[in-house]
Amino acid sequence: MSSNKESTARTLIVALAVSLVASVFVAGSAIYLKPVQEENRQLDKQRSILAIAGVGGAERSAKEVQDFFNTRIKAEVVDLTTGEIKSDLDPKTFDALKAARDPKTSIELTGADDIALIKRREQFTTVYRLQEEDGTFAALILPIRGYGLWSTLHGFLALKPDLNTVIGLGFYQHAETPGLGGEVDNPKWRASWTGKTLFDADGKPNIEIVKGGVDKNSPAAEHQIDALAGATLTSKGVDRLLQFWLGEQGFGAYLEKLRAEPLASQEGGH
Ligand SMILES: Cc1cc2nc3c(=O)[nH]c(=O)nc-3n(C[C@H](O)[C@H](O)[C@H](O)COP(=O)(O)O)c2cc1C
Repeated sequence: MSSNKESTARTLIVALAVSLVASVFVAGSAIYLKPVQEENRQLDKQRSILAIAGVGGAERSAKEVQDFFNTRIKAEVVDLTTGEIKSDLDPKTFDALKAARDPKTSIELTGADDIALIKRREQFTTVYRLQEEDGTFAALILPIRGYGLWSTLHGFLALKPDLNTVIGLGFYQHAETPGLGGEVDNPKWRASWTGKTLFDADGKPNIEIVKGGVDKNSPAAEHQIDALAGATLTSKGVDRLLQFWLGEQGFGAYLEKLRAEPLASQEGGH
């Protein structure tokens, strides 16, 4: 009887010891792997920026992506309200999504102001300029995000130096259904954005995702994209997030400033 009790106690002690060791090991690996995961997330985002800007991304090694960023991409933090560059904020360390969660560094969006369904918008965000080897401005890459059907889609929009023609649009993070809303990642759909124009002659956003197919012969076609088949709700989310980020609440002030002082005339400086 007493040996039975002893063996139960021993079993419990061993089980406890094993689970303690295991939890220390799991917690330790989570802490140890965190910086690696963060680095990989950063790399994924950078690859996505390059792919959307049409300069390849997926096939580049981590070092090649880093080198390209150091030489050909100029990142800047922008004040979304005024459109001014915030030169006192380092784009390498500034985290716009973190800023969007903090009431001190973001504004609350409600009702008609929150068409992208993001609840809060950061005061400052990071934008990227792609430069040719000689330093001339080749593309402006803007971060965009908004709610689809199941998730917030996070991505980038790359514009030609005319600040109107799309080079590419894509999302590096979302949780829409594969085969339905997840088709935002379909290379064919992504390619359908290239060459579209986002603004009217007076600078007003004019881009629309249409259900049932774009009439290629219509003059409006240059401002229209086919909705994803069977995923009207995600498509509407992408439409709304673009209206938001191209409008006054988004990059409106910044783009207006750039139109007044075109980047195409600026050179050099990484
Ligand atoms: C399990 C499940 C997952 C779905 N996922 C999506 C999705 O990610 N995006 C989307 O727009 N619609 C999704 N839908 C379909 C929507 O409910 C809706 O039917 C669709 O957006 C309408 O698009 P349509 O008018 O092109 O058919 C999903 C439906 C089901 C049953």
